Amino acid sequence: MKNRITELFSVKYPIIQAGMVWCSGWELASAVSNAGGLGIIGSGSMYPEILKSQIQKCQAATNQNFAVNVPLFYPDIDKHMEIIIKSKVPIVFTSAGNPNLWTKELKKNGIIVVHVISNLKFAIKAKNAGVDAIVAEGFEAGGHNGKEELTTFCLVPLIKKNVDLPLIAAGGIGSGKTMLSAMVLGAEGVQIGSRFVLSHESSAHINFKKAIINSKAGDTVLTLKELTPVRLLKNPFYDKIEDAYLKNKSIEHLRELLGRGRAKKGMFEGDMESGELEIGQISAYLNRILSAKEIIDEIMEEFKISIKYINEL
Ligand SMILES: Cc1cc2nc3c(=O)[nH]c(=O)nc-3n(C[C@H](O)[C@H](O)[C@H](O)COP(=O)(O)O)c2cc1C
Repeated sequence: MKNRITELFSVKYPIIQAGMVWCSGWELASAVSNAGGLGIIGSGSMYPEILKSQIQKCQAATNQNFAVNVPLFYPDIDKHMEIIIKSKVPIVFTSAGNPNLWTKELKKNGIIVVHVISNLKFAIKAKNAGVDAIVAEGFEAGGHNGKEELTTFCLVPLIKKNVDLPLIAAGGIGSGKTMLSAMVLGAEGVQIGSRFVLSHESSAHINFKKAIINSKAGDTVLTLKELTPVRLLKNPFYDKIEDAYLKNKSIEHLRELLGRGRAKKGMFEGDMESGELEIGQISAYLNRILSAKEIIDEIMEEFKISIKYINEL
């Protein structure tokens, strides 16, 4: 398949494995890139020296392109960017912040820049900042998310209609059928997070993976909109958030309740009671742990069968 996204990233398939805190290190990123997609190291949960060694390991494990995701609110961002530039990472996905902050500097250093948005206003801002492509992430997606609650089905055509840039759809995509739908809506690539959490190579704790497999429709919720909205799996920690809302507690109380290190505790250390478990609505559909290559091959196979099905309608 050839389109603006496969050309931009020099990949065989327009499948991008999302950068995900505590879940996407070099093992997952290199496995995805070796399987024909674009792997991303999620730097949002890494100290600078960890990021540096993750990039080195990824470079040793693949000779294909890979990317690093940098949430722009990250406190040590200058150090992260310095490492990325010095290590000659070819592609950066920025998210959760102002695209004007780093786009020019990264591009000056020959780096391809992609920015993640959740509404039209931010897509226009990203285009004006000079990014090479955008990810339109719908409300279904796992992790931090837009306040506007636009679904992938509504967001992708809206961005396609108004912003002339290569477009990647994210949120609720995990199969060949959903990939094809996103491309019919105008995307030229898909960014997949939750499905890759359930890969052998993801660094998510096995307890978290099992909880995803056991989850049912309605078990995820977008919450903490007053802080940074996040879609997570309901658990006893979430019950405390809900209780705080019922009692009309202040934002400070919510911030204290969230505290620090919750995401690590849940997703990386496997504490299903008090950890934060970021995952998308598609978790209810997921029921197997496969290798990254098996996931990509399965998606591409279903994608081709779905095209045939449409042609025969
Ligand atoms: C466990 C988890 C962690 C995530 N962490 C990040 C992150 O660090 N930076 C980011 O831009 N997006 C993050 N996201 C969002 C993903 O990059 C991606 O856009 C989203 O997962 C796509 O939706 P899906 O989960 O339905 O596939 C995360 C998602 C998950 C599931």
